[in-house]
Formats: sequence, C-alpha cells, structure tokens
Amino acid sequence: MAKASANFVCQSCGNATSKWSGRCDACGEWNSITEEVPLSQGPGGKTLGATRGRKVALSDLATTEAAPPRTASRIEELDRVLGGGLVPGSAILVGGDPGIGKSTLLLQAAAAFARAGQKVIYASGEEARAQVRMRAQRLGLGEANVQLAAETNLRDILTTLEAEKPGLVIVDSIQTMWVDNVASAPGSVAQVRAAAHELTTFAKRQGTSVIMVGHVTKDGQIAGPRVVEHMVDTVLYFEGERGHQFRILRSVKNRFGPADEIGVFEMTGGGLAEVLNPSALFLSERGTPAPGSVVFSGIEGTRPVLVEFQALVAPTPQSQPRRSVVGWDGGRLAMILAVLEARCGIPFAGLDVYLNVAGGMKINEPAADLAVAAALLSAREDIAVPPETVVFGEISLSGALRPVGQTENRLKEAQKLGFSNAILPKGGKATGKSGMSLSQMPDLVTLVGEMFGAG
Ligand code: TYD
Ligand code: MG
Repeated sequence: MAKASANFVCQSCGNATSKWSGRCDACGEWNSITEEVPLSQGPGGKTLGATRGRKVALSDLATTEAAPPRTASRIEELDRVLGGGLVPGSAILVGGDPGIGKSTLLLQAAAAFARAGQKVIYASGEEARAQVRMRAQRLGLGEANVQLAAETNLRDILTTLEAEKPGLVIVDSIQTMWVDNVASAPGSVAQVRAAAHELTTFAKRQGTSVIMVGHVTKDGQIAGPRVVEHMVDTVLYFEGERGHQFRILRSVKNRFGPADEIGVFEMTGGGLAEVLNPSALFLSERGTPAPGSVVFSGIEGTRPVLVEFQALVAPTPQSQPRRSVVGWDGGRLAMILAVLEARCGIPFAGLDVYLNVAGGMKINEPAADLAVAAALLSAREDIAVPPETVVFGEISLSGALRPVGQTENRLKEAQKLGFSNAILPKGGKATGKSGMSLSQMPDLVTLVGEMFGAG
C-alpha cells in the first residue's frame, strides 16, 4: 500500500500527484506514473540552501571585557535587584499582578534614572499622557526630566527611539503593544513575542536599556510575561498580598547579577518607599509570642530576612481536614506533617492546619522546614516557643535535621534584631561568634522532646 506522503511522478512529463492512476492527467500518457520516495533532506524547504551568508567574525575567550558600566538609580532596593544598577543595552521584564504597583515603581525608577543623568522615555500604552503626568505629580516627580509617549504602535515607538537615542526606555505594558506585520490582536502570544523580540533586538543594537512591564494574567486570553522570559536578560517579579502594604521586587533571572535577590518596598500614599531593614518591618506587628508563632531567620538573595510563621491547628468535624498555606509551599507542608506523624508519632488527622507567613512575604527556602515544624507543634500543643528565639534548618524525610547555608549570617541578623536564642540543626558552621545561645539538634524527635515534653 502506498503511503500518503509518497510522490507519484509521471516519468514522461514530470507531473507529480499524490495518488497513482493509469493515465497521466497532465500529458495523457498511459502507464507512465511511478512511485518516487524523495530522499530525506531534513525539513524540506526550511534549510538555508546553497546561498552563502556572510562570514561571522570569531574571537577567543581570552579577550578581557571591561565590566559593564552600570547606572545606579540610587533607589537602593532596585539597584540591588538589578545586580548593582542598570546595564546599558539590557532588556528587563517586570512582571506582576495588575494593580500591584508596577507603573508606580517604574515611574519612580524613570525619574531616578533621569536624575542619575540618563535620557529616559516612558512609553505608556495603558494610560493617557495626562494620567501619567497626574500620577507623577502625586508622587512629587512633576519636575523629573522624563519624556512621555502614549502610543501602542511599536513601529512608531521604535522610530521615535531611533531618533531620540535614549539611555532607558520603559514600555508599559508589553501586552498593549502591537507590531503591524503580525496579524493577530494585541496581547496575543504572537504579538507579545514579536513586540518583545523587536524591543530586545533594539536594546542590543542601540545600547539602550529597555524595561518592559508584563501583567500576570489569570485567563488564557492575554499572553502573560512568561512567554517572553527567555528573550530578556533580566526577569523581575513585583509581588505582594492585597491588603498588605509590602511589595517585593524579586529577580528570578538575571544575566548581570544574582537571581533570587529581593528588594522590599512599602506602598504609601506618596508612592513606593524603600524598606532598608525588612526584618524589622516584617516583625513589627508581632505582639507577645503566642502558641503557633515562630520567627524564622531566612536568606533572601544576599540578605538575611527574619519573618514570622504563624500556625493554627484546630479540630475539624470534616473527614478531610483542611491544609491551608499562605506564603509557603503546600506540598512542603504536607511533607512536614507526614514526617511529624511517621517519625515523631504526632498525628494531625482530624485537625485543620493553617499556616501563614506574616506580612505577605513568600518563602521558598527549605531552611524554613524546622520553623514550620516548630510552629505546627507549638500550635498543636498550645505551648508558645520561648520569645527571643529564631528557628531554621532543613528536615529530611527520615526526621533528621540538615544544616543550611549562611548559618552565621542568619544568626547575626537575629542578634541584631534582639533575639538571643536559636534552634538549628547540629553540624552547621555556627561558630558562636554571634553571641547567640544555640540549641543544636540532630533530629526532629529531639526538638519535640526538648520543647514540648515528648509530644
Ligand atoms: P499601579 O502602579 O497603577 O499598578 P500596576 O501598574 O501594577 O497595574 O498601582 C496601582 C495601585 O497603587 C492603586 O491601587 C493605588 C496604589 N497607589 C498608592 O497606594 N499610592 C500611590 O502613590 C500610587 C501612585 C498608587
Ligand atoms: Mg500599570
């Protein structure tokens, strides 16, 4: 049987058809058609063919490159997340939920970079010029030397940029931009990709830094910032809980600096204010230590940050008890509950468990395991963890505690904020230089025994 892809070619006139017949339709010759299987040539028609390209200049790795000259905005929290300032020609994506404060942050950044001597253009596809101006006035930035454009056609924007040659362009947002040679609606994956590609190429060609705003979208109608993450040099997410004034700028990818760095801001009536000592802020609402409350000494990027874990454990009439987590990983909570049950004999069946990171912070470090376990035990047994105690360490499935990195930094930060005790795994690189009194534990059973009288 002939395969559908096989080619039937008339040997007399060369006419090709997809199926065999006795007489060629083109030349009328009988019995001239035979099956020809084309030789494989890879993806047909897509190869570059025989046409020669230009020879590309090659260079070896030994050439020393000067470190990129960075421009600092003097907004310290922003500069640190960027890896020490803005690199010329870099493409940066700032993602975040609608209404979280991206436009506010970038308008403040635009003014700050303008003050630092950069020529800055702010292209808004979402707001009219008057709206942006009003916001700038509200933020006290009315005098800032930032040029505004309210435009969504990328061809027009790029023409303007080529003429003006700014040092920094802010495009708010990438989902409102459209490229006129792509035939789909603005906000579609094809448009967002094409627009981001044009802007990134422009950045590399002209040495202009480009910051693109991308809304995180819940439905599939509009492409989210994820579809352009691979194209840009730096991906920052601006996050925070609604109802909390804290906002965290987190770098998830950075070709010019460390990833996982955070900058902490506070949304005030006059815009975003820097929070230079986040630990103090996250712990500021802490009252007298209650059962279920544990302070965790974490590391975010290059900085130690203290946050409070709060747990509530309550009996439930439901056959399926609730496991609710805010600011931490639900799967990790399930693991810790399982370890507590299997290794320490402390069951959580028939109990609802709520776990919360105070202040709207999100923690993804495994080093928080021990703090979570302590919070859960403290809530379940209704015994408060002694005040002035910080907890950190990773829990393995066997119930053993594993030391975590940067122990000394964690202890120092805790000591600075008035804590005097630490519960941590045995075998870490704690030297005792920090002046904290240390309770080093080999496993979870020891913790349960020492703190809660053997469960
Ligand atoms: P915005 O920057 O417009 O968010 P995005 O660009 O991410 O969609 O910020 C909108 C919110 O910020 C809005 O709910 C009001 C609040 N806000 C303040 O609280 N103070 C301010 O000074 C400004 C400008 C905004
Ligand atoms: Mg906006």
